Parts: sequence; C-alpha cells; structure tokens
Amino acid sequence: MTKKQPAAPAKKRVAPSAEPTSKGIDSYPLKVGTKAHPALGLGLWSLGRWTREDEVKTRTTVEHAIHAGVSWFDTAEVYGTGRSERLLGDVLSRSQNDGSQLFLTTKVSWEHLRAAQVRAAVVGSLQKLGRRTVDLVLVHAPDAHVPIAETMGALETLWKEGKVGAIGVSNFSLEELAAARAALQETDVVVNQVVYNLFDREDGDGVVDYCRQNGIVVEAYTPLLRGILAGRYLDGETPSPEVRRFAHHLLDRDRYDTLVAQARSIRELAKGEGIPMASIALHWLRRRGAAVLFGASRPEQVDEILDAWAHRPSDAVLDRADEIARGTPRA
Ligand SMILES: NC(=O)c1ccc[n+]([C@@H]2O[C@H](COP(=O)([O-])OP(=O)(O)OC[C@H]3O[C@@H](n4cnc5c(N)ncnc54)[C@H](OP(=O)(O)O)[C@@H]3O)[C@@H](O)[C@H]2O)c1
Repeated sequence: MTKKQPAAPAKKRVAPSAEPTSKGIDSYPLKVGTKAHPALGLGLWSLGRWTREDEVKTRTTVEHAIHAGVSWFDTAEVYGTGRSERLLGDVLSRSQNDGSQLFLTTKVSWEHLRAAQVRAAVVGSLQKLGRRTVDLVLVHAPDAHVPIAETMGALETLWKEGKVGAIGVSNFSLEELAAARAALQETDVVVNQVVYNLFDREDGDGVVDYCRQNGIVVEAYTPLLRGILAGRYLDGETPSPEVRRFAHHLLDRDRYDTLVAQARSIRELAKGEGIPMASIALHWLRRRGAAVLFGASRPEQVDEILDAWAHRPSDAVLDRADEIARGTPRA
C-alpha cells in the first residue's frame, strides 16, 4: 500500500509559508491533514501543578490567547490527569470560536501505548475536549516495552476513522522516529515535538536535521527555558525547585552561573537592538524551521510573547546569540 500523501522529498526543508495567518503568526505546511501548522502556539501543561489557582490562571490565559489570535493549543491526557484537556474543551465550548480556525493537539500517554489503550485514550481525549476529531495526536514519549508498530497501527486506524487529523510523536530519537514512520502504511508522522531552545539543542543527534529533511515539523517545547530566555531569573530571583527539577541538566549548580551569564549577554544584545529578549529566543527557533510551543501562566505573558514574535531580529543578531549560547568567544 502506498502512503496516502507522499512524503516531502528528502532534503526538502520545511519552510514557513510566506503569508502570516493571523497576528503575524505564519504556518508550516503539513504532509497530512487539511490544516497548516501554526508557527507559534501555547501549551497547557502548567508545570504539572494544576492547583485550583493554577487552573483559574490557565483558563484566563487560554481565553486571552484565543482572543489575541493564538490558534495552536497543545495539551495531553497526562496534563493535570485530564484537567488540561477538559479546561480547553470547556473554554472552546463557551467561546464564540467553534474550533475550526484553531489547531488542536493532544498526546497519548507513554503508559497507554498498547492498541486498546491508544483507542481508549484518544476517545477519552475527544470526550474531554468536546470534539469529534482533533487536528493532531502525538505519542507523548516512547515505551521500550511496547512495539511501536502496535501503537502506530492503532493510531492509523483512528486516523482512517477521521478521529485524528494527523499523527505525530514526541521525545523520539532518530531511530525511534524512523521505526514509527516505517510502521505506518497509508500516512506518515508529521510532527516530532522535542525540547529545543538556544541552550538545549537537538542538533547533536541529528533529530532536527532529519525532520527538516523529511518534511516533519519540529515542535520546539520549552523555547524560553522556563522564562530565562525572556529575562526571568537574571536579576537575583532563582528558579523554584520544580522548575529546576524539570530542566535539571541545564539548571544544576555546575552549569547555572555560566548559563545566567550567557543569558544576560543575550539580553544585552536584545537591548542594543531595542527588541524584547524573547524575540531572539523565538526567532532563533523559527529560523531553524521549528514551530514554537511556549508556556504562559498569565495573560500578560501571552501578550509579551506575541509582542516578541512581532519583532524579527536580523540574521546577524541571531548568529551572535547563537555564538553566545554556544560559548563561542567573539572573533
Ligand atoms: N512533549 C513533552 O514532553 C513536553 C514537555 C514539556 C512541555 N511540553 C509542552 O510545551 C509547552 C511549553 O513548555 P514550557 O512551559 O516548558 O515552555 P517555556 O515557554 O520555556 O516556559 C514557560 C514559562 O516561562 C515563563 N514565561 C512565559 N512568558 C514569560 C515572559 N514574557 N517573561 C518571563 N517569563 C515568562 C512562565 O513561567 P511561570 O509560569 O513560572 O511564570 C511560563 O510558564 C507546555 O505547556 C507543553 O504543552 C511538552
């Protein structure tokens, strides 16, 4: 059987479409599905806290983001053990927005990768989201104990039934990604969602290069490094233990001081250009062809990120930020 839509030719890079869709947010073509993939979107993870207060803040933030023109929202069955999906479904049902202009992504937990579990998870997610179909479903992370062919087979059946617009993966290595693609008969993996920011790069193991060359959109999560790349924690405030735990390989004591010094240099660079520091973080990713998935816990943060997105740094500025983050001394 042939793939329903042919994969983009090898070596063809995924390039943003020329015209922004809304609020200056452009989009990437997807190999499968009817919608283009917005280049910037909001994640509803909320650091996994989901206290009552977090829930109220997240709701206000999501409502504001829809109003402000954000169209891509990312959730998962594990976020708040379903509360995140339910909240998004509830916000959509109360808003004027019927969802057709939005791009909704959810994820099947790494604990639910057996075929029957995949179906139950996706059906459960659709119920919580209050929808008959979702634009994109990702495998949240691989499970070495479950053959990927079983998981992808179950997802492909759901895709054929129209419950899922397209299929993607998250936190997959190059080998895992290739195996996931090979397991699909009539469709293809369209997205790999990975941690990706100026200080945390996937180029080492070639995942991002492989995706770019094969028309797979890279969704970059933690683009702001929990706020550091928007100027947070650079003037005395220190990350909470939960933030440190999440990004421990970057925020551990040995590396932290150097990272803060480099981030301060990037902030100076932005100041010199008269642009928000986050512009550099976001557009460094965009220039690398990634779709940027940021987090926010307050409406003002959404506004700041949209404002940062609206300021496009020059290539020279992005190159200099790249050198600073790599620790390359100025020639
Ligand atoms: N697939 C996966 O395994 C995976 C893993 C992690 C995340 N994700 C997805 O990616 C999304 C984003 O991840 P993330 O939350 O780690 O990304 P992030 O954008 O690096 O961090 C978001 C945090 O940065 C701070 N922030 C936002 N705007 C700011 C601003 N203008 N100034 C200063 N600080 C600002 C906020 O911290 P405070 O809330 O503390 O104010 C916000 O919660 C998640 O919601 C989730 O959807 C996926």
